[in-house]
Amino acid sequence: MFEFEECPPRKGTGCSKWDNQGGDYIPMWVADMDLPAPQKVVDAVIRRAEHPVYGYPVLGKEYTDCVVSYYKRLYDFDLPAEWIVWVPAVMPGANMACRMLGGTIMNNIPMYPHIRKLAAETQLPRLEVPLRQDENGRYEMDWEAMETAIAAAPGVTTFVLCSPHNPVGRVFSRQELGQLADFCCRHGLTVLSDEIHSELIFDDNVHTPFFLVNDWAREHSITLTSGAKTYNIPALPMAFAIVPNAKLRQKYQAFIAGLAAVPNVLAMEAFRVSYNECGAWKEALLRHLQSNRDYMEQRIAEMPGLHVTHNEATFLAWIDCRETGLEDPWRFFREKAGVNFNNGVDFGCPGFVRINFACTRAQLTRALDQMEAALRARQG
Ligand SMILES: Cc1ncc(COP(=O)(O)O)c(C=O)c1O
Repeated sequence: MFEFEECPPRKGTGCSKWDNQGGDYIPMWVADMDLPAPQKVVDAVIRRAEHPVYGYPVLGKEYTDCVVSYYKRLYDFDLPAEWIVWVPAVMPGANMACRMLGGTIMNNIPMYPHIRKLAAETQLPRLEVPLRQDENGRYEMDWEAMETAIAAAPGVTTFVLCSPHNPVGRVFSRQELGQLADFCCRHGLTVLSDEIHSELIFDDNVHTPFFLVNDWAREHSITLTSGAKTYNIPALPMAFAIVPNAKLRQKYQAFIAGLAAVPNVLAMEAFRVSYNECGAWKEALLRHLQSNRDYMEQRIAEMPGLHVTHNEATFLAWIDCRETGLEDPWRFFREKAGVNFNNGVDFGCPGFVRINFACTRAQLTRALDQMEAALRARQG
């Protein structure tokens, strides 16, 4: 019913992934999908664009209803509409929250580079603590290391959580999130929970929105999300924050007032239709992504010196290249395989690359074939 085996050529469309990589590579980097958005979204955007007046819009109840019914449908939770705060996109929403909270920003590494950059962008100090891997290579928070680090760094105000996690693909359990809430409570932190990947969940994993973890989490968090990743519409930005605590919410609303442009009428249509009408498309997408994940894991397991994490969520996988002995695996794959990944260095971890497997199977196969050939040629 839905087709994920073709993507119209993107090269030359002014897109970052294909047109901004400094050469001719198979682009397996930027976190958008080389797949078309749902046809219903495309039709709705065209319909709206055909009305020739692009005047000031109103973000009325119809849009808050999208969010309320989303939390009901996915989490059986009756979200009070007043908890919703519209923000231009997830990262600007996080940036403004960090500026409002002031103080040192804490995050784990590896971490999505734009979360790592929040500190520099807001001119605030940063405290980074590595995740650890269990005996099966699964990443988890390192509570001991986090306690030690925060004890030595007074002034931490904010913990930025990426849940599900980019790039290690973890869906944190309710128990782990409860432990994080305890940690943040003991140290007086506010949690910024970036949940932009929360609809891209595989197998029987269950995502828990941070504000639903317990009473403390509800009162001390700002959750940010949007349909950008799931429906492949990041260039039609429209996102929201959930801020249950009234005082924190009023402070945030006052802080961000005047900082955002009026909502974009095309983005509003994309938002409304993706949240309300694209459930079947999303289920089909998840089947495609999961099948790509399985294929990619199996292929990478056969490549000398590489280990890939098992994705519980997201279309971004984290490849450990350290056993290859390559000094700069990112450059090796660009120069010898013609494949462009994200460089682990930008996530705080040299020796790793991040692959984006949200594309047609043909594109993924070509990238994996070229990777494997380059690694085998090196072995001689
Ligand atoms: C964890 C995470 N947060 C935020 C974003 C970007 O969100 P936005 O484009 O709404 O700022 C991305 C995009 O890759 C992401 O992976």
